[in-house]
Amino acid sequence: MISPNPFRPGAGHPPPYLAGRTSEIREFERLLSQPVILTNLVLTGLRGVGKTVLLEGALKPLARSKGWLWTGNELSETINISEEKLAQRLITDLSVITSQFEVDRQVIEGIGFHPQRAERVVTFDHALMESLYRDTPGLVSDKIKAVLEATWHVVKPSGVKGIVLAYDEAQNLADRADRDQYPLSLLLDVFQSIQKKGIPILLVLTGLPTLFPKLVEARTFAERMFKVMVLDKLGQSDRKDAIEKPIATQQCPVAFTPMAVNEIASRSGGYPYFIQYICYEMFEAYLGMSDGIPNPGVTVAHIARKLDGDFFSGRWNKVTDRQRELLRIIAALPGSDEEFTVQDIAEASKQADGKPFSPSHVSQMLGALMEGGLIFKNRHGKYAFAVPMLADFIRRQSKEIVP
Ligand SMILES: Nc1ncnc2c1ncn2[C@@H]1O[C@H](COP(=O)(O)OP(=O)(O)O)[C@@H](O)[C@H]1O
Ligand SMILES: [Mg+2]
Repeated sequence: MISPNPFRPGAGHPPPYLAGRTSEIREFERLLSQPVILTNLVLTGLRGVGKTVLLEGALKPLARSKGWLWTGNELSETINISEEKLAQRLITDLSVITSQFEVDRQVIEGIGFHPQRAERVVTFDHALMESLYRDTPGLVSDKIKAVLEATWHVVKPSGVKGIVLAYDEAQNLADRADRDQYPLSLLLDVFQSIQKKGIPILLVLTGLPTLFPKLVEARTFAERMFKVMVLDKLGQSDRKDAIEKPIATQQCPVAFTPMAVNEIASRSGGYPYFIQYICYEMFEAYLGMSDGIPNPGVTVAHIARKLDGDFFSGRWNKVTDRQRELLRIIAALPGSDEEFTVQDIAEASKQADGKPFSPSHVSQMLGALMEGGLIFKNRHGKYAFAVPMLADFIRRQSKEIVP
């Protein structure tokens, strides 16, 4: 019998083996051991680097094993519509963990809430939380604080250490001055306030590298409120583990040769999504499952080409000719895999073929590329590619067009 392909290329799909990330996991363990929460977590990195699977596959089970409750969600762009919407999100997610908890009337009345319910046994479900929210006077922030405090009072007697509230794709949170809605600032204010009171609800925000600058822009105290973990490509030995361990543990009938392992490790650049993608395709080819006939002639190079078609070409085809010229200049800069400045680009464009770009033209075009999700501005105000290994792809393209 042919064993199923163990690799899992796909957003949020748990990998067969979660390679590396031990220092991140240890760091999170330290955050969980804070007697009073002073530091929350921001987990960022490019798309495909492994944020979601680290959160779900390692941090969540760790927190649970240490006696924490865990809840949260993935944030969509619609969360920015209003503060009310954020409040509803929090209530819905919290009630998932509290709806089994019985409410001690004395406790809840002690915090000034008198549920209008006839039943003797009342659980802190969505409806009850909702009514607490509505009955609390004041601003949206006052109402949310009341809900969070009550939540803690309800779960505390069971002996839990605290609650982790984890939001993925949190770069979608944004204040909207034009609509007079500030959900992001609201979230930060509320957590700062309840944590000051000693309530152990830890905030974990995961998202693209634009996330942390956004938090700091909303509230400067966000600088001190979060530990920022930046996930990056995997190192050499972790890459090998990610490639080899899934096959070893599944006792697969085929294995990669040491040469193939090295080749995958290097072609993937250590980016977890690319590792899963290349390994998956190699495996399919080895087993001949894609078209029914064994195809041992498929090489890593073939598959890297397929990856170009599947992953990069769509993005490349959306940019204009002039933007491509600019992107080629950027990709040729010595530091382009890390970060670059408007000045670097404008200078280099003088040496390149074609019309040079003025600094103001460069900034303007970078703005358009940021909106298209190809570039982002990092914490230090410099620019970087928002898509892993995009510079390599562009360099490959440039080589191909030269006869
Ligand atoms: N540490 C890792 N080891 C092996 N594979 C990983 C690792 N991290 C992520 N992956 C794989 O990479 C892909 C992208 O992971 P994901 O968590 O969705 O990234 P992100 O949330 O950062 O966009 C998935 O296919 C996942 O299985
Ligand atoms: Mg993700």
